[in-house]
Amino acid sequence: MAYGPEAITEAARLIRAGQPVAMPTETVYGLAADATNGEAVARIYEAKGRPSFNPLIVHVRDLAQATEIAAFDDEARALAERYWPGPLTLVLPLRDGAPIASLVTAGLPSVALRVPAHPAMQALLAATERPLAAPSANASGRISPTRAEHVLASLGGRIRLIVDAGQTAHGLESTIVALTGDAPRLLRPGPLDLGLTVAADGMIEAPGQLRSHYAPEKPVRLNAADARPDEWLIGFGALTGNATLSASGDLVEAAAKLFEMLHEAELSPARRIAVAPIPETGLGVAINDRLRRAAAPR
Ligand code: TXA
Ligand code: MG
Repeated sequence: MAYGPEAITEAARLIRAGQPVAMPTETVYGLAADATNGEAVARIYEAKGRPSFNPLIVHVRDLAQATEIAAFDDEARALAERYWPGPLTLVLPLRDGAPIASLVTAGLPSVALRVPAHPAMQALLAATERPLAAPSANASGRISPTRAEHVLASLGGRIRLIVDAGQTAHGLESTIVALTGDAPRLLRPGPLDLGLTVAADGMIEAPGQLRSHYAPEKPVRLNAADARPDEWLIGFGALTGNATLSASGDLVEAAAKLFEMLHEAELSPARRIAVAPIPETGLGVAINDRLRRAAAPR
């Protein structure tokens, strides 16, 4: 655990090296990583031991940086100008070519953005000049941390640095509002009350259950030992495919490439998709969870 300006310098060094760092925000402590680097984002999942991928919130310095990543209409701009920096997350259409790793959005065409008010997180955003993906800094299944000690108890030994700024102001995750449909939808109630109630379908967008979650239109066959005719094979390790998640069998690399490779398979001329076996260990658990959903009959 560390605090003060040296802690931010060290945190920035680790972020640029692709490592996640626990950071205070005004809501809860977050486990931050470079949102432009898929392997850095995969290491968030590795540290949390999360058995599935769900889209993460991207933290940015200000509205100007946010507009490089997402498309803002007048309504989005008005909410951002009024409530940022602060505990409001906006889900918006992802801009074409935005420099955000596909693992951050779990392959979705939308992205969740917020400008945190906490000076330590603001300082890290300024020092790294990168957008930072950051879910709550707790191990999977544990409650969100509102003190550095909570992070230490939950993730100690799994991450290199916890920046300590005492207790968080709100102690509750940010309010999430989606502006991707006709009307604003409250996806997660939080510290900021905008007078919206959770939409009937709002909870469908809770972790792991996003109905709009990217699923290939083509049939997907798992644990494939080779490609059959008319299949696009996504390889792993020694099993080389049309594309390969990681030739060296590295699960961090595989997680970082997973959504891009599913999209690529979908766009390929082949009518079917096959995927090599992925070990059910570490990040492989989350990768296989995603693949099983992709392969589930619809
Ligand atoms: O207060 C907070 O927001 C904390 C601190 C660290 O900033 N962060 C946080 O992040 O709670 P995270 O990544 O755990 O929040 C992820 C939630 C998902 O469960 C999902 O509900 C929503 O954000 N979300 C993210 N991207 C989305 C998208 N493209 N569409 C719909 N929902 C999305
Ligand atoms: Mg959480």
